[in-house]
Amino acid sequence: MTDINTRAQNILSELTAIQKISLLTGADAWHTAEYAEAGLPAITMRDGPSGVRTYGKGALCFPSGCALGSSFSRETVRRVGELLGEETANNGVNLLLAPAVNIKRSPLCGRNFEYYSEDPYLTGELAYSYITGVQKNAGCCVKHFAVNNQESKRMSVNAIVSDRALADIYLRSFERAVSAKPLAVMSSYNKVNGVYASENSKLLNKTLFDEWGYDGMVISDWGAVNDIVKSVKGGLSIEMPSNKGNTEVLIKAYGSDGLTGQNIDVAALRAIKSILRAAGYKKCETDYDAHLSECAVLGEECCVLLKNDNNILPVTDSQTVIAAIGEGAVNPRFQGGGCANITPAYISNPLEAIKKRFKNVRYCSGKDLSEAVSVAEQSDVCIIFAGLGEKDESEGYDRKSIAFPAEQTKLIKAVSKVNPNTVVILTQGGVTELPFKNNVGAILLTYLLGSAYGETVARLISGEGEPSGRLAESWIAHDCDASAYPYYGNGGNVAEYGEGVFVGYRHYCTVGRKVNYPFGYGLSYTEFEQSGTAISATSGGVNVTTTVTNVGKRSGKTVVQVYAKVLNNDLAHLECELVGFTKVSLNAGESRQVGIFVPFDALRRYSYTEGKRVLYSNYLISVRENANKVITRTEIEFNAAKSEYTPDTCIGTILREHPEYAELLKPYVCLAILGNFNADVQIVNGEAVGDPVFTHIMQDMPLRALYNLTGGKFSLREFLNTIT
Ligand code: BGC
Repeated sequence: MTDINTRAQNILSELTAIQKISLLTGADAWHTAEYAEAGLPAITMRDGPSGVRTYGKGALCFPSGCALGSSFSRETVRRVGELLGEETANNGVNLLLAPAVNIKRSPLCGRNFEYYSEDPYLTGELAYSYITGVQKNAGCCVKHFAVNNQESKRMSVNAIVSDRALADIYLRSFERAVSAKPLAVMSSYNKVNGVYASENSKLLNKTLFDEWGYDGMVISDWGAVNDIVKSVKGGLSIEMPSNKGNTEVLIKAYGSDGLTGQNIDVAALRAIKSILRAAGYKKCETDYDAHLSECAVLGEECCVLLKNDNNILPVTDSQTVIAAIGEGAVNPRFQGGGCANITPAYISNPLEAIKKRFKNVRYCSGKDLSEAVSVAEQSDVCIIFAGLGEKDESEGYDRKSIAFPAEQTKLIKAVSKVNPNTVVILTQGGVTELPFKNNVGAILLTYLLGSAYGETVARLISGEGEPSGRLAESWIAHDCDASAYPYYGNGGNVAEYGEGVFVGYRHYCTVGRKVNYPFGYGLSYTEFEQSGTAISATSGGVNVTTTVTNVGKRSGKTVVQVYAKVLNNDLAHLECELVGFTKVSLNAGESRQVGIFVPFDALRRYSYTEGKRVLYSNYLISVRENANKVITRTEIEFNAAKSEYTPDTCIGTILREHPEYAELLKPYVCLAILGNFNADVQIVNGEAVGDPVFTHIMQDMPLRALYNLTGGKFSLREFLNTIT
């Protein structure tokens, strides 16, 4: 069979210029144009990311991005992707508008429930797994490229972000996602450094296509195009939804200096290739019941046990008298608002699922405080269903604060006052204050689990399952603790990313900010220990091995987390950044040696000198239980390329990297310092000694200044040739 590239070329050559141009917008809101005679079918797109948005027909709702992020499990996310991909194909959809891989810059972003994490490495790894899973049966469209980290003014805001933060935080998750070869990438609404993402040639043509070698098509977010001619030239293939007005604009511009036939061909060919790939997926059979049962177990991986005093959870005795309090027990929150919102075929009811496992369960809505208190007094364990409502967090707007609903706090405090065995099942898509944290016995954070929510929660309460999630975002205590706090949510048209790379735990860990629960945190129903950790540099990265032992009484899962700190770059240092993780499942008493390989790519960080991410030579590698808790750390050194010397290179840098050049530098240093400042600085055995003030001044003196201060006693060019 002819390969897709050849077929696409053939189709392109069959199409007239007008047909090619007409292909560059949707046929309607959810389909591409069809040219049957030329052999080009139309494809159907639907949102994602947590279920196929079938408009009434019904499919399952899967865990949202916030829940999948906390799984810290590539396998779980890939499996969810596989199930979702099957349902996508079963519904006759070729392209799922998912995953959403933007970084949770601030806890206030209305769409955080759709996103995985505040960390780009975790986000990228999980997005890769999701795409690999879905694309067994349907295409993925990764969104929203790029720097779409707020909902307020999302369609016009100008995100002003440094090159370093772009490279090390905001583009990294996309780069990794794109390496899974998603069929499409969706350009976001906002501007990035002054240019709309949908016409941002630097972002699309240069970064996505040239540097990352992406081989799919870019489609616009719905209504995101500003200037269609600039978009087509900038790297966009299809404007969504259909905009025939812009087809006319393109036809008029066609052939003029502004828009060449070549521009149209590039955009159309990319579209044709992706459409052919997407159309190649076949409708598949799906067992929705089997998916639902599997999701109930997969959901356990996403739940994070924040607190569990005296092992209140799990409740293993089926005779225990349980109070299920809160409307969430019967009318559960399981998804976020906006275009990710679907009408699922089924939603499991927590109360019923709990009643299947426990004989004595009483329910009350919690609206009447005295009723709730009296039910609590007569129960052994109180399970309170709490959290933000669907309208509190949604696409289209941001939250104003991380405050927790006051009436729920009142209920939780009143119940826990009369019953210390109070468990809060916290069901929401983002971070809130936890004003009841010290009052209750246990907090189980479920995030938004989709259709199987009730079953998962009941399995976790009864101990049939174990919560093995870890926080993919820091749970800060107050709004003003947030790393982006001074810069986020001014309501204007400019979003200044003043915190740079200090996003989430990168900030909290570096400045020692206390948080309620740190990134990477999560308890288990059992306990683990790590021993014999070895960290070593190899020719391609860092090898970490550690022995994990389940020292508790039941089987369980833990996440081994590896972090790195660059020690020798010229930029502001971050205390730690996640560079590796793996989830380990162990029976009670079992021990296993676990290996994590951290490739160079995970360690590369931006260099302003090189204009790209580079490998530095010195790193502090740590194995941590969570971002705040170090188990072991070791410094490692690679033979990374030494700096290339320029007139701006400082003498101290040269002496550090090449002590043998001391003799060469010595006479000029003496001349410069003694001659101009009457101070004595000598270089002895590669070290600067003498006047302490001028020793420091000399260390940080660039060669250019040395040349000037000697009165031009040497040729800078020859000097550089000698030492490089
Ligand atoms: C959202 C996208 C979504 C699209 C189509 C937009 O408003 O930002 O995520 O895929 O609508 O529903």
